[in-house]
Amino acid sequence: MRIECTSGDIRTVKADMVVVNLFEGTAKPGGATGAVDAAIGGAIAAAVRGGDFDGRLGESYFLRPARGVSAPRVLVVGLGKKEKFTADVARQVALPVLKAAKRMKLSTVASVVHGAGVGGISPETAARFCALGVALSSFEYDRFKEEKGHRLSRFLFVERDAKALPAVRAGVFHGVKLGEAINWGRVLVATPPADLRPDDLARAARKVGAGLDSRAAARIRVRVLGVRELTALKAGGILAVGKGSQAPPRLIAAEYRGGPAAGKWTVLVGKGVTFDTGGISLKKWEGMEKMKYDMAGAAGMLSAIRACAALGVRRNVAAVVPAVENMPSGSAYRPGDVLRMMSGKTVEILSTDAEGRLILADAMTYARRKYRPEVMVDAATLTGACVVALGSVNIGMMGNDERLVARMKSASALSGEKAWELPLHEEYLEQIKSEIGDLKNIGGPEAGTITAGYFLKEFAGDTPWVHFDIAGTAWVEKEKRGYAPGPSGAPVRLLAEFLSTPAGR
Ligand code: BES
Ligand code: MN
Ligand code: ZN
Repeated sequence: MRIECTSGDIRTVKADMVVVNLFEGTAKPGGATGAVDAAIGGAIAAAVRGGDFDGRLGESYFLRPARGVSAPRVLVVGLGKKEKFTADVARQVALPVLKAAKRMKLSTVASVVHGAGVGGISPETAARFCALGVALSSFEYDRFKEEKGHRLSRFLFVERDAKALPAVRAGVFHGVKLGEAINWGRVLVATPPADLRPDDLARAARKVGAGLDSRAAARIRVRVLGVRELTALKAGGILAVGKGSQAPPRLIAAEYRGGPAAGKWTVLVGKGVTFDTGGISLKKWEGMEKMKYDMAGAAGMLSAIRACAALGVRRNVAAVVPAVENMPSGSAYRPGDVLRMMSGKTVEILSTDAEGRLILADAMTYARRKYRPEVMVDAATLTGACVVALGSVNIGMMGNDERLVARMKSASALSGEKAWELPLHEEYLEQIKSEIGDLKNIGGPEAGTITAGYFLKEFAGDTPWVHFDIAGTAWVEKEKRGYAPGPSGAPVRLLAEFLSTPAGR
């Protein structure tokens, strides 16, 4: 699908459907919606008056006016209450639009840019979120379906004010590139676990720049370490978790170079457990199929690299991904084992199901030694406890540097991707101290998300670091907030905002 923009009048644009909007509680539609309403004889205002439609967020109203507009169909999307409007609302409303277009098998849709000028949102920002919404809503994983989903061929944003067109164009460009990068990672997360084992993930990572323009792609370099190199590096965590599987572990590093002024490295570490059975501490069967998404952190960090290249971000950014399959077998690691990690610390294994922190710890050590980063961020579907604590609304966020955490909070607010900080107070260390070694890999029933975060903190050293637990947010169970069920792409919206904002702002 092409997502484009033009300036003109939505009433006369040629498309199979035009999209306008309405804030909740608006009696008389204004702007482009008002113009369309007047052209079609006040049918929208009448629907509002009659109580058929009230502009609530997530709702939409479909009309087939006999005359007045060039397009045969009009869809009015609800933007919710004006006081509650944010740029992210403009993203969310794309989903009902794309669903309607698909249901009716349309080929072209034209839409106004939702929310430009509302509550201080610039045309550029509004267009960016609208286009991101369209790109994300067009995601469909139908590789294994005989009947493929209908695909829209063109989505056109129509801006009334010709002076605003350059800003809208820049916004659409940004939103489309970001959405495309996020969708690239969502495919990996959706892929069945037999088709995406550590080596497959490495192969996918090598193509993280594929399809981008050649100058952007040339800024990416990918290295993949195998068992030999990992052994030389004494990556005791990655090797132990990986050894129960027939598919050997990998450590993937995808580097994006942001040009001469790019400065020190930012490293993004992503949990790449291609399938988490729990290992010898086997999980129960119900829901185990979902554990294919235990590499969502890895997919997200690689997506972020793709987004940096597509958007020409002026920073040096590396994604470091430990990739393993956590399997039970005669060669698997066991509860009771004591591992010596790459950093030299020893870890007593109490559950082979707390594997994510082990591979991340080594990846973090590798990242610190190799890149001497000024910022390190990790993303991981790390704990079921995070789903209990924050549900599917917030990413669990922890860190060792107040200023970095504050920057993440502001990126979170701007991007609309929610993240909530949990404390890493020293008192929690008690729970993960081992009798036989330095640490143990689980901290008991209390504060499971925090003790997992604390475990990672022990490997972050003095590098400013933030941890995102995306266990509750990386996979959408039921359609909500503009996301269809399936992989969400978390936390790339937040990270893209962070990476494109210069430090100190
Ligand atoms: N990948 C899981 C975490 C997870 C659980 C993500 C449910 C999404 C949904 C992780 O490797 C794991 O198994 N964690 C254990 C840790 C426990 C053994 C301390 C958990 O959360 O139960
Ligand atoms: Mn596990
Ligand atoms: Zn896991």
